[in-house]
Amino acid sequence: MKEKEIRKKDDILSAKGRLGVLLPGLAGAVSTTFIAGVEAVRRGMALPIGSLTQMGTIRLGKRTEGRVPKIKDFIPLASLEDLVFGGWDIFPDNLYDACLKAQVLEKNLVETLKDFLGSIKPYPAVFRQEFVHNLQGEYVKKETNYLDLIEALKADIEDFKKKNNVDRCVMVWCGSTEAYLPLKDVHKSLANFEEGLKRNDPDIAPSMLYAYAAITSGIPFVNGAPNLTVDIPALIELAEKHKVPIAGKDFKTGQTLLKTIIAPGIKARMLGLKGWFSTNILGNRDGLVLDDAASFKTKEISKRSVLDYILQPDVYPELYKDVYHKVRINYYPPRGDNKEAWDNIDIFGWLGYKMQIKVNFLCRDSILAAPVVLDLALFIDFAQRAGLYGIQEWLSFYFKSPMVKEGLYPEHDLFIQLMKLKNTLRFLMKEDEITHTGLDYYVE
Ligand SMILES: NC(=O)c1ccc[n+]([C@@H]2O[C@H](COP(=O)([O-])OP(=O)(O)OC[C@H]3O[C@@H](n4cnc5c(N)ncnc54)[C@H](O)[C@@H]3O)[C@@H](O)[C@H]2O)c1
Repeated sequence: MKEKEIRKKDDILSAKGRLGVLLPGLAGAVSTTFIAGVEAVRRGMALPIGSLTQMGTIRLGKRTEGRVPKIKDFIPLASLEDLVFGGWDIFPDNLYDACLKAQVLEKNLVETLKDFLGSIKPYPAVFRQEFVHNLQGEYVKKETNYLDLIEALKADIEDFKKKNNVDRCVMVWCGSTEAYLPLKDVHKSLANFEEGLKRNDPDIAPSMLYAYAAITSGIPFVNGAPNLTVDIPALIELAEKHKVPIAGKDFKTGQTLLKTIIAPGIKARMLGLKGWFSTNILGNRDGLVLDDAASFKTKEISKRSVLDYILQPDVYPELYKDVYHKVRINYYPPRGDNKEAWDNIDIFGWLGYKMQIKVNFLCRDSILAAPVVLDLALFIDFAQRAGLYGIQEWLSFYFKSPMVKEGLYPEHDLFIQLMKLKNTLRFLMKEDEITHTGLDYYVE
């Protein structure tokens, strides 16, 4: 991307018109909680808690100036009233039925929203059982060739846009975690990938076909799961070619969110770490999918890398060289979406004296993920209107495994990520970036 391609402040394209939010995994827990939640907020029944775009503020200029607008009043974001929802799933349920099955939201709320939710129905999915062993795909596209499947997805997008009178779209992958797939030659360049499409290469996952369809339609793509999807050189190249922003991967919620809040604090105070054991019980459909070793491996890699990057054991070998980091996910149906997570953190302090921290987080996975989907949809649409394309590193704040340009390491510290995000907004709106030195208040 060239600096002159970036549109700033008044040159950023307007957010007017309807924004289509397309979700592979439309009938899942995260998608339904997000969509029902936006409608509840639009009807004034609840607050969009957890959403930075809706609740967050941004300081501008010096502390003495008192300029602290809400982010949504500072940058031109699509308004909640202008969002329209669509997508794909391997289950044909309309969103009213899907919401009831997901059992995240209270029945009363779902009943109140019945007309709205019942009117949204997925398109049949692009699905391959090899990538999600624990789900049976019933409602899937008939085409078998990848190129035909991509055309079918594009036809769905056109149909959705026409029926909903939509001006712009974004796509956010909220589908199940796909089985672990290492980077192969077919992923390493766009030429290889496009050859692979022609011969239906088995190493091209369904999520990559959605991403290909989106990017070649000029639609920004966000990956909420840990599967590679757009985090491969081929699709990064495609996004740059079509000047489309992309971001991923794996929404940062629950246990990993807490890890990226606590670990930077331990490191900031130069306390040592011996081990971090994280385990949780989870009973929703996501838990069922992750009960399969191939899908769990994709998730485990995403969850484990976080500590290495935050603690920098190569820079601080005395403190973090041999950290034993173990992550477990246990499928336990009685809990549904209400996950319970335990962390045992073995730390050491002054003169090597040992201490322990225990965290018991009784969270709700989809309640934490829904505002993340909302923010990502709004921010990536904003990015496109500001002329940004390719990897959107400033959105790392929302991911367990943030995508970065080759040769860079990802930034995992939540507070650095937030500063990066807000400074990007200040930069795009021609405000001074804030370094927090604060010396200027004292030096004459
Ligand atoms: N909830 C969280 O806190 C959180 C955090 C990080 C990542 N995620 C990821 O977000 C995704 C969604 O989570 P969830 O709890 O809603 O799971 P879920 O199982 O309830 O929903 C996933 C949906 O995707 C559908 N699906 C599977 N393969 C598909 C395909 N090829 N095309 C279209 N639809 C497909 C499934 O039928 C299901 O309805 C998962 O990959 C999960 O790992 C969730």
